[in-house]
Amino acid sequence: MKPSITRRLAAMFALAALATFSLTGAVLYRVLDRELTAHQDDELRANLQNTAYSIAHVADTERWARVKERMDSLNPANGRVRFWVLSDDPRFQYGKGLDAFERFSQDADGGGRISLPGQQQSFRTLSQHIAPLGDRPAVRLIAGIDTAPFAHTLDSFLGALAVVGWGAIVLVMGLGLWITRVGLRPLVRLSAEAQALRPRMLSQRLQATDLPVELSDLAQAFNGALGRLEDAYQQLEAFNADVAHELRTPLANLIGGTQVALSRERSAPEFQEALQSNLEELERLRSIVNDMLFLARADQGEAATGLVDTRVADEVAKTVEFFEFVLDESGGAVDIEGDREAQAPLDTALFRRALSNLLQNAIQHAPPGSRLAVAITPQDGALWIGVRNSGAPIAPEHLPRLFDRFYRVDPARHDRGGHHGHGLGLAIVKAVARMHGGSVKADSQGGVTTIAFSVAAR
Ligand SMILES: Nc1ncnc2c1ncn2[C@@H]1O[C@H](COP(=O)(O)OP(=O)(O)O)[C@@H](O)[C@H]1O
Ligand SMILES: [Mg+2]
Repeated sequence: MKPSITRRLAAMFALAALATFSLTGAVLYRVLDRELTAHQDDELRANLQNTAYSIAHVADTERWARVKERMDSLNPANGRVRFWVLSDDPRFQYGKGLDAFERFSQDADGGGRISLPGQQQSFRTLSQHIAPLGDRPAVRLIAGIDTAPFAHTLDSFLGALAVVGWGAIVLVMGLGLWITRVGLRPLVRLSAEAQALRPRMLSQRLQATDLPVELSDLAQAFNGALGRLEDAYQQLEAFNADVAHELRTPLANLIGGTQVALSRERSAPEFQEALQSNLEELERLRSIVNDMLFLARADQGEAATGLVDTRVADEVAKTVEFFEFVLDESGGAVDIEGDREAQAPLDTALFRRALSNLLQNAIQHAPPGSRLAVAITPQDGALWIGVRNSGAPIAPEHLPRLFDRFYRVDPARHDRGGHHGHGLGLAIVKAVARMHGGSVKADSQGGVTTIAFSVAAR
């Protein structure tokens, strides 16, 4: 059985009630016991004193016979209060079962307890010594009171206490169940609301305003999570739309080109040309798909494996070499600046891929023949690799979004065709930086644009 707050609270209520009732019951029982004993003792003492007074004036057997008669009539042998008179002189003895008093002992307060042989009753006793007078020797008067009614009262009190106590515990448990049910109602409502949420209604939120404080925090946290989910979901949907849009152009080119090629009889070189152009579109498609796969794997948290301590300037130089051919044609050049000795753990293939993307962008956006620079700058335990080029500035509002997938400052440029990227270049730079424990930044001021990524230094 699953643990339940309601059941647990009800059980705790019952335990609390049990403890409370046991304690009050015990105290009440003790008080009643004491009161009854005191009451008994008062009655006993009054009897004892009156009778002792009578006996104290007995000086001969004649008078003693009258006192005995009075004791008989006042307190019959089967009555609640009894008298016994102990004396060395058998004539002055009185009372039933005197033998029992051979083993009679008393408490410090003069009270005692005795059960007569052959009788169920037990008596609480008080005694008094009476000095000799005339013929009469010293005697001891003992008055006893039957404790049975007293015990009976206590017993029925205890019984009533137990019945009331158990009843109260059951009642408290029932009330506890009810109270917790009522108290937990907002929780039930909240969970019903949460269950009603569907992925298609991600803009829905839990009603947090009229909830008790204990739950409104929870609801707010939950709503926060929903908000982030919604954002992620929307990004995903936008990404899907972007992907479809991105694939549509090369596919349309492929279909169009193939249809034209097939529209009439063609020579072998003409078909070759058509296939060549198809191949270019297919390669473009493959490169988009590869980039997307790379980003998807990076998203799943795939960290760069096989990081090797590398001198960063060396890797930069090797990457720049690949671009020399293009640059030589236009008369441009790349300067390598900054810390030439700095080392960092790198996955060199990923590092070159990121730097190539930055260099491609720089060459593409810089005026032909201008100089580019790659700067290596250590900062706060990271190593920044920035690519700088002159050219038209990027408006500040675009800067934070440059690294988003498929984001382009000027979409028209792309649609005009040409062989630049498909808007994933900087997203890949960001993914590579993240895989190396780094981040990215972009800056464009005074006609100089710098786009940089970092890797965690050793
Ligand atoms: N060096 C740069 N100068 C100016 N704009 C740039 C530069 N690098 C990137 N950008 C802008 O950032 C956008 C995103 O770059 P990128 O992710 O590489 O996509 P792509 O190069 O395929 O357009 C580019 O479309 C361009 O508008
Ligand atoms: Mg690019």
